Amino acid sequence: MAIREIRKYGDSALSKVCRPVEKFDAKLWELLDDMAETMYAANGVGLAAPQVGILRRVVVIDVGDGIIELINPKILHTSGSEAASEGCLSFPGEYGLVERPTYVEVEAQDRNGKHFTINSGEDHLLARAFCHETDHLDGKVFKSVAIRMLEEEELE
Ligand code: CO
Repeated sequence: MAIREIRKYGDSALSKVCRPVEKFDAKLWELLDDMAETMYAANGVGLAAPQVGILRRVVVIDVGDGIIELINPKILHTSGSEAASEGCLSFPGEYGLVERPTYVEVEAQDRNGKHFTINSGEDHLLARAFCHETDHLDGKVFKSVAIRMLEEEELE
């Protein structure tokens, strides 16, 4: 495992549409392991492959209940809506007010290529993370969907 460099705002990798993963091999597993290590080292709750310069549809998330690996994720269903503060490891120190669904159901593949579905249950932060991270795979960053950016004194 290794910590990879997190691409910051302005890096062209953050605005690209990523390609689906086709090979579920050792190279993918190494990427997933490195992404998890990189996310934990940066105290993040999610990381998408383009944030480490890899233009493939791969996401890792951990909102406190363990690692979730999503390969080729697709949002199947959403409900509810909530505006809350949101940040991103590619935008250190910046936070925006972003409206997201409160419930999200995702279809994805695991590291062996097996299809599964997962939902956010009652966890609004997980629903937010599913949306934020899958947005990254389409070259969309939170700043571009924020209602407005937040000042430091507005943060809880
Ligand atoms: Co992000």
